[in-house]
Amino acid sequence: TSPQTFYEAVGGEQTFHDLTARFYEEVARDEILRPLYPEEDLGPAERRMRMFLEQYWGGPRTYSDERGHPRLRMRHNPFRIGQLEKAAWLRCMHIAIASIDSERLDDEHRQALTEYMEMAAESMVNAPM
Ligand code: HEM
Repeated sequence: TSPQTFYEAVGGEQTFHDLTARFYEEVARDEILRPLYPEEDLGPAERRMRMFLEQYWGGPRTYSDERGHPRLRMRHNPFRIGQLEKAAWLRCMHIAIASIDSERLDDEHRQALTEYMEMAAESMVNAPM
């Protein structure tokens, strides 16, 4: 028997669905972030983010089946991401993480997820301010 993945431990598909749905609800009304998204429909972006996070945390590998290697920093090059955009992104993500109840996301997993998002957001910064 293999050890449970993070993906399984926090509730699998449903949890990653709820997390990304809540995140994009915030993005949709954020005046700094919303203009950065090229498509009018945020649905496809939400799905790409969900597939990526599921794969990163040990779930299905659908992201790479469809999109290949993530190369996230490169994929973010077309968008100007300074400290303002990073802060707005993290604001939305903190709200999304807070919306997942502690039955699914205990303190230890919540902290790991939060620290990952903060590290990943910093690594996407490609412009000053
Ligand atoms: C794509 C913005 C950080 C994961 C995108 C897109 C934008 C964007 C505008 C294009 C939407 C689309 O059509 O898919 C930002 C901003 C960030 C940020 C402003 C602030 C720091 C992150 C972080 C992650 C992430 C930290 C991962 C933890 C993704 C993924 C995609 C994406 C997986 C889709 C890539 C693809 O397959 O094309 N982001 N992002 N982003 N972002 Fe971010």
